[in-house]
Amino acid sequence: MNSSSEIVIIGGGIIGLAIAVDLKLRGATVTVISQDFQQAASHAAAGMLAPHAEELPPGAMLDLCLKSRWLYPEWVRKLQDLSALEVGYIPCGILAPVFDIPKSQGDATWLDKEGINHYQPGLGSEVVGGWWYPEDGQVDNRQLMKALHQAAQRLGVNVLEGVTVEAIAQKQGKVSSILTSRGEIEGQTYVLASGSWVNQLLPLPVRPVKGQMLSLRMPREPHQPLPLQRVLYGPGTYLVPRQDGRLIIGATVEEVNWTSGNTPNGIKTLLDRAIRLYPALENWPIEEFWWGFRPGTPDELPILGRGFCDNLVLATGHYRNGILLAPVTASLIADLILQQKTDPLLSHFRYDRFFSKPLSTPMNTNGTQPLQFASVNGSSSIPQLPEPSTEDHLIIAGRKFRSRLMTGTGKYPSIEAMQKSVIASECEIVTVAVRRVQTKAPGHEGLAEAIDWGKIWMLPNTAGCKTAEDAIRVARLGREMAKLLGQEDNNFIKLEVIPDPKYLLPDPIGTLQAAEQLVKEGFAVLPYINADPLLAKRLEEVGCATVMPLGSPIGSGQGIKNEANIAIIIEQSKIPVVVDAGIGTPSEAALAMEMGADALLVNSAIALSKNPPAMAKAMGMAAQAGRLAYLAGRMPLKSYASASSPLTGTVV
Ligand code: FAD
Ligand code: GLY
Repeated sequence: MNSSSEIVIIGGGIIGLAIAVDLKLRGATVTVISQDFQQAASHAAAGMLAPHAEELPPGAMLDLCLKSRWLYPEWVRKLQDLSALEVGYIPCGILAPVFDIPKSQGDATWLDKEGINHYQPGLGSEVVGGWWYPEDGQVDNRQLMKALHQAAQRLGVNVLEGVTVEAIAQKQGKVSSILTSRGEIEGQTYVLASGSWVNQLLPLPVRPVKGQMLSLRMPREPHQPLPLQRVLYGPGTYLVPRQDGRLIIGATVEEVNWTSGNTPNGIKTLLDRAIRLYPALENWPIEEFWWGFRPGTPDELPILGRGFCDNLVLATGHYRNGILLAPVTASLIADLILQQKTDPLLSHFRYDRFFSKPLSTPMNTNGTQPLQFASVNGSSSIPQLPEPSTEDHLIIAGRKFRSRLMTGTGKYPSIEAMQKSVIASECEIVTVAVRRVQTKAPGHEGLAEAIDWGKIWMLPNTAGCKTAEDAIRVARLGREMAKLLGQEDNNFIKLEVIPDPKYLLPDPIGTLQAAEQLVKEGFAVLPYINADPLLAKRLEEVGCATVMPLGSPIGSGQGIKNEANIAIIIEQSKIPVVVDAGIGTPSEAALAMEMGADALLVNSAIALSKNPPAMAKAMGMAAQAGRLAYLAGRMPLKSYASASSPLTGTVV
């Protein structure tokens, strides 16, 4: 499938579909690509329209939610007309019972025990009163999703169900196309609305926050109203009565990454709280259990507006209020795309609030301080120092570096020790594990921001990837991460495909496959490999920028165990050879450089030493010394002693 559409929306949850319908109604040609309708949080949600019950503090988020709640009646009327489906919108008000009298009572309407029982008879005996939020309400989000889908199709939106976007291709600062499980799709503008999954495509700090839910069937007596008429938003749980007799009970809030499924503990917790709130439900039949992933951001606000590229728009991270926020999101995003109108509210939800400003300092790889040498007099009998003082640059993918030492960021006792070590080593390239930085793995929090990327060239790496596919995906994220941190033209990737957790040895086949693909996608690929000369040659042939043979297993500090093979790689290679992994001491670093390696990558030996900055400096000096020694050419090896002072001309 190779197709094109004016606007391509990635994600068919409530946000993607709502934007699609709005754009289509304004005359655009729209395609929605949806991996899996059932997995959407929009399907799992409770459907509360509850800016007040959710206790949002005054500010831009509350304003956005209130605006959306205000848009709701007209928005659902339009959708019902377009789809001929009911969506169960009920501006029923929300009661928020509490078990302890609150200290401050704010502006909301407080109901005492008697008052709240008047609104909702049958509340638990521990309820002491509660808040009444008359303007909050609910919608049946599953019905709403059906209606949106139907409306989109009836309007002529091209909805591609069961299709996954695998990558966003970019050229010269613009998205050029998207690569999907069914081929390439081109558009003029792209909207990224893939909920919790967004950071599989771009390095945005959106994480899945799991919520477990269940539903009961309320008893329906002839000619009697249902026992619950309004949403009850209690401590740690809420009860949402639907008009069809279902009672939705939610929801847990769990930071368990992508762990799916309902758990006995999750469901028990919900039921205990629900029964405390409204005891009669303990005997009602259970109908269904389910769960979903809220797209959570660090500040719990959505990400809305223009993205990394001119023609990319972001609409994600709606966390607990995406059902509520659908109408306003659709309207603001459609205004932005079709009328280039940026509502002032959007300024609070820009993606770049999460990233420190790119540094203005230009990359400092040319004309920087040369290595310092002891001065020599101009005597012509003394050979000139070899070139490294001014000319001997390491050149990778056309980019010049003065230092031949690359360092890493892992395993340091502290971020400060890492920062000092990077400076002391005088390295110009630092590798960072895309996955660990993104997931903020222990020791990697704030790491990307801790380095002055105006001075240091980032080498994103695919550490943690076990397969070629995984590594390709993470490489793409790495490119975006470098961009975000101000290195627009950084296409470097250190490719690691390591299926074996014990010895951490790279998979040669997976590495070659991933390298081929990444080279095709325009990456400068620096593959980490075993010291295998044939593989090194193949990687060179497919267009890699360097090869990075290991000296010995990663983090082992065993030094250069594969000397003979590394020597062959160096001899036959036309691209830089970077000895990576295993170096434990500066003498081993110097040895690799004396052998003719073009550069080194050293991490553990620095980070795990007793004084990382001092060891970093020593490694930097060793790389220089080894390089200079290599250029100077070592003396010939002899089998017999040869006196240091010549004997000729001496008086006997
Ligand atoms: P989703 O609904 O998750 O949709 C994203 C879609 O993108 C999915 O269908 C997915 O398959 C697709 N996708 C992902 N990656 C790709 C890809 N690479 N290619 C193609 N497609 C892709 N909000 C409220 O306002 N009120 C509530 O009462 C409420 N209750 C909630 C209760 C629970 C338990 C949960 C989990 C959420 C609740 N929310 C509620 C929050 C709300 O559901 C979300 O904020 C909202 O649904 C997010 O919508 P979305 O379209 O951004 O993401
Ligand atoms: N807004 C309800 C929830 O996210 O659980």
